[in-house]
Amino acid sequence: MYQALYRSFRPETFQELIGQDHIVRILKNQLDAGTTGHAYLFCGTRGTGKTSTARLLAKGLNCLAPQGQRPCGDCAVCRAIAAGTFVDVVEIDAASNNGVDNIRELRESVNYPPASGRSKVYVVDEAHMLSTPAANALLKTLEEPPDHIVFILATTEPQKLPATILSRCLRLDFHRVPEERIRGLFVDICKARGITAEDDALGLIASNADGSVRDGLSLLDRCVTGSGSLTREDVLDLLGMCGQEVFLDITQHVLEKQVGEALLLFAEALSQGKEVNQFARDWVEHFRNLLIIKYVKDPEHVLNLSVENIRRLREQAAVISLPNIRRCIIELTGALAEAKWSPKPRIIVELAIVRMASTEEGEPMGPPKEKETEKKTEVRQPKAEKPKASPVGKPDPDGQTEEELWRCVLEDERISKMSKTCGSILREVTDHLFTVQISNSIQEEQFRKEEKLLEEILEEKTGRRRRMRLLLKDAEIQESFI
Ligand SMILES: Nc1ncnc2c1ncn2[C@@H]1O[C@H](COP(=O)(O)OP(=O)(O)OP(=O)(O)O)[C@@H](O)[C@H]1O
Ligand SMILES: [Mg+2]
Ligand SMILES: [Zn+2]
Repeated sequence: MYQALYRSFRPETFQELIGQDHIVRILKNQLDAGTTGHAYLFCGTRGTGKTSTARLLAKGLNCLAPQGQRPCGDCAVCRAIAAGTFVDVVEIDAASNNGVDNIRELRESVNYPPASGRSKVYVVDEAHMLSTPAANALLKTLEEPPDHIVFILATTEPQKLPATILSRCLRLDFHRVPEERIRGLFVDICKARGITAEDDALGLIASNADGSVRDGLSLLDRCVTGSGSLTREDVLDLLGMCGQEVFLDITQHVLEKQVGEALLLFAEALSQGKEVNQFARDWVEHFRNLLIIKYVKDPEHVLNLSVENIRRLREQAAVISLPNIRRCIIELTGALAEAKWSPKPRIIVELAIVRMASTEEGEPMGPPKEKETEKKTEVRQPKAEKPKASPVGKPDPDGQTEEELWRCVLEDERISKMSKTCGSILREVTDHLFTVQISNSIQEEQFRKEEKLLEEILEEKTGRRRRMRLLLKDAEIQESFI
């Protein structure tokens, strides 16, 4: 029978446990010195190695190898514990055995010495699920544990445990495992299984694991079954774009006003089985994450995400303004409420995408890509572009006005004398664009030549990349006569 990867790859020794070096160090030292305690509390996100480590500690306490080499993973005891057949290691799932009776039974059995090992180890999984009377009963045992008894409580939610229990245990916090370590494990697994996998493919799975090795292994499992090779495309296909990546991408399209791309990505997600409302809900969650990251200095404690995913979000949070986040959340939650009752929820979300990708001023789609059309649009559109309210008066947090900012840009020595002197006004700076007003086509040509440079310097001054748009004063006048 096929056994899931995360079951066939349980770490048998401390070396095989990844990303928890701080815990391995403590436990290894205690085992080597013979100073292990009576009660441990293993806390941390799901699938980061709590149960595995509890078994490793149980092995270490009973292993037949000489002290200093425990657990060996190889002796009869280590094998029996791995197979779940060693009588002195008792695993209790508190989620299903949370009654007082179970604990009473436990307290009675605690009084018997180990049958064959040196220590009797009780691993209480999901310890936060214990009922209060059960927790109290356990407490009595924790207070005066008989010799040779070790309790290991494992939980994903330590805050739900009573303080009295917390204070009697040595608490060890399991970290989310860094992506690089998970990817490394995948490389080894693929090698062992003769699977040729693209680095990118494994990296993508690792990032979707979000720090949980078990989640990573199940994803890998879904991707590799039946095939001897694995590409990034395969992974995207198989995972059905459920990861954060799709929300980072679609948000980026919205930010860059690429409505078409955003709609296509949405369509693709739906075609891969994602449900419309779920997609919108997850997307709102993404914006919420961006919001938190903008306000909270160490968002790791608030967001249930890996360091790497937080880094990705942080990059996006840096280029999205607060009003924009607010606008998108309002658009999406509005769409969600409406979509619930609509026979065609998809169109409602699509409309929301179109609206989100328009600027705050209600400007239509972003600038077309090709230079030719770009020029035309720019020259023909100045009236529509002209801000209705006053333009963003302070383009940067230092409180600089457009005039001062533009002077700074033109003063830069890389700018040609011609551009410096031909007369131009910075009319408006929005999230993604800055509009420079000029008065004739010769000036236009001149600024076009230095377009990239100007964008670069403005970025240096404001810390944000924006595209330059030229506004021909004459065209504006002409248009107003039509
Ligand atoms: N740190 C790790 N190093 C190597 N493999 C790991 C690690 N964490 C988890 N795994 C893999 O995931 C599987 C499940 O891990 P384990 O049961 O120890 O996680 P857990 O933290 O107890 O999760 P839960 O909170 O859901 O009980 C293991 O069999 C192993 O394959
Ligand atoms: Mg567990
Ligand atoms: Zn051993």
